[in-house]
Amino acid sequence: MKPPTVTFCLAGLLACGFASAQDKPMDAPLKSEPFGEIDGHAVTLHTLTNKNRLQARIMDYGGVVVSLRVPDREGKLADVVLGFDTVAEYPEKSQYFGCITGRYANRIAKGKFSLDGKEYTLATNNEPNHLHGGVKGFNQYVWKGTAMETADGPALKLVWSSPDGDEGYPGKLDCEVTYTLTQGNALRIDYKAVTDKPTVLNLTNHSYWNLSGEGSATVLDHELTILADRYTPVDETSIPTGEVAPVEGTPLDFRKPTVVGARIGEDHGQLKNGLGYDHNYVFKNVRDGKMIHMATLRDPKSGRIMDVDSTEPAIQFYTGNFLDGRTGKGGKPYAHRSALCLETQTFPDSPNRPSFPSPVLRPGQTYETTTIYTFSAK
Ligand code: BGC
Repeated sequence: MKPPTVTFCLAGLLACGFASAQDKPMDAPLKSEPFGEIDGHAVTLHTLTNKNRLQARIMDYGGVVVSLRVPDREGKLADVVLGFDTVAEYPEKSQYFGCITGRYANRIAKGKFSLDGKEYTLATNNEPNHLHGGVKGFNQYVWKGTAMETADGPALKLVWSSPDGDEGYPGKLDCEVTYTLTQGNALRIDYKAVTDKPTVLNLTNHSYWNLSGEGSATVLDHELTILADRYTPVDETSIPTGEVAPVEGTPLDFRKPTVVGARIGEDHGQLKNGLGYDHNYVFKNVRDGKMIHMATLRDPKSGRIMDVDSTEPAIQFYTGNFLDGRTGKGGKPYAHRSALCLETQTFPDSPNRPSFPSPVLRPGQTYETTTIYTFSAK
């Protein structure tokens, strides 16, 4: 008979060396650790893990989702968002990867708008327009983060106060964004803000998705459904023309599951103006707080599925047309169209378009929106 110690060691070896990732001990639901510094401010990386081992790593710099690991149909986890290994790479190389985008996500024509009869001038950081909050948007500040366990799952609350006049916008804006990695396998994002003067705002999350895993060559093989009948056509500077047009009969129609790359090369004015898909899909004309199922993204190879639900009036579908092969996590090249964004929002250039949902927030009102990205596989 073998000595019991040998049996024990073999069992231990099997457990450590040959077990699948699924058999590893569970990570704690919350972990917070230093992640370098930026402009002399310490940055913290918070890791949220749910009971099914989905894991989100989110830093307090820009509220960036640095990684998000979700299972495929075999239960194998992969990180499905683009990002970097170090915080220092974000200001240098990031095209708004994973961040909270604000004060006004998307474009404002020529960096100008009027509110209550007063004209405001913003940076034209995406010539000739203003983009994603300007030169130093909400993605470039270290927010105050508090990690906490909630009934729905591990969560991270991030708080940031944007001063009156920040990037030319009126009003001191106090913002709170809470990420919850729910036990139902969703990343829920709750946005809240109050102001001390009338202002405009449009907050979103700018994650770049590739459900085969970040660094995979393309996202053109993913299948997408966007349940919107209408979209806002844009001019050649990506500013809405003001029209709200039907998707029917155009390559922008994703009401039935369609392969992302199937029509992207078609000779269509809108695909030329957007350099691919870079368009706002319309669901409703108000910020009324009602949750809508907007989109489903599916990767046929891995079986991973992401559903997008939101209280927002619209969603921007962007096919990573400006990704150019520069490297991300693990030195992997992020090629042209190797990820896509589904940014829930109000319409671009709403401050200049009275017929669009109002982006105005006044003192005494609370801006509250919620977006939920739910993951499954089959
Ligand atoms: C916009 C693109 C822009 C990208 C920047 C997207 O939200 O729609 O036009 O190039 O952000 O990363």
